[in-house]
Amino acid sequence: MSGLFDEMGEVKQNLQVGPNLYLLSMLAPKTASKILPGQFVHMQISTNPAHVLRRPFSIYAANPENGMIDILYQVVGSGTREMTFWQAGDKAPMISPIGHGWTLSDDIHKALLVGGGVGAAPLYMLCVALCKSGVQVDVALGAGSSNSLVCLDRYNELAMPKLRVLCATDDGSYGISGFCTSIAQDALQCAADSDAPYDYVATCGPEPMMKIVANLAHTANVRCEVSLERRMACGVGACLSCVVDTKDGKKRACVDGPVFDAQELLW
Ligand SMILES: Cc1cc2nc3c(=O)[nH]c(=O)nc-3n(C[C@H](O)[C@H](O)[C@H](O)COP(=O)(O)OP(=O)(O)OC[C@H]3O[C@@H](n4cnc5c(N)ncnc54)[C@H](O)[C@@H]3O)c2cc1C
Ligand code: FES
Repeated sequence: MSGLFDEMGEVKQNLQVGPNLYLLSMLAPKTASKILPGQFVHMQISTNPAHVLRRPFSIYAANPENGMIDILYQVVGSGTREMTFWQAGDKAPMISPIGHGWTLSDDIHKALLVGGGVGAAPLYMLCVALCKSGVQVDVALGAGSSNSLVCLDRYNELAMPKLRVLCATDDGSYGISGFCTSIAQDALQCAADSDAPYDYVATCGPEPMMKIVANLAHTANVRCEVSLERRMACGVGACLSCVVDTKDGKKRACVDGPVFDAQELLW
């Protein structure tokens, strides 16, 4: 694949921001200047043989001016647990920038972004890019509880006139009580009933949630993109460990995705 490079990321901060949720800020200037919304890095966790395979992480935010990137990660296994011990000055090699990200096209005027759990993070750069292009953006964020809505402040801080952020929590501790798919359903219905329907939906989060959002978008006749998570061995298109079935045959989530048109997928 052309355009890929190796970069040694340097940890600047690694903060616990919620239950099992950490915000990792790294100095990685090449990545910060090249990464596009929805792309990811494949990072080496340690020299421990259990972590011989790199782990894929989406970029939450990138600042080409100071060379910093942010990754929001959830602890799910031994690799992400090891990452929680990283301290300022620790180094981690990464391959970057990988994958086909969100499609930013001129025909998007009103967008709905639906993020569940850590899926809120890979949508943030997309949200920034859409807002900067003057697109009206509605964001629906979902989490188990208010203390897991860890991206909310950053979305709110964007304070863009055409941006609206709505939340749902399973326990009702913030926003509506229930799932962010309910917000998406209402928003799509309201928009369809008005003279300003959505023309783009993007979603990232647990697969069952994304399937519901994709179906809602399909019913409302709105184009929908989803960001798939697959176990990835090589991360660069060579090993086929990440294949997904699509209408055009098998595709590799790492390089043909992770962002796919929902209608393309056989899932
Ligand atoms: C393109 C892409 C972007 C991602 N971005 C993020 C992100 O921004 N933040 C974040 O927290 N996580 C993200 N993930 C998931 C992250 O890569 C995994 O959680 C991580 O690799 C788990 O490593 P581990 O050693 O802790 O877990 P392991 O011990 O390897 O596995 C623990 C559990 O996690 C599951 N798992 C492992 N790897 C993956 C994977 N690649 N996709 C889905 N499930 C997996 C396993 O099936 C198992 O149930 C992303 C995955 C992909 C494919
Ligand atoms: S991870 Fe090897 S082909 Fe996708």
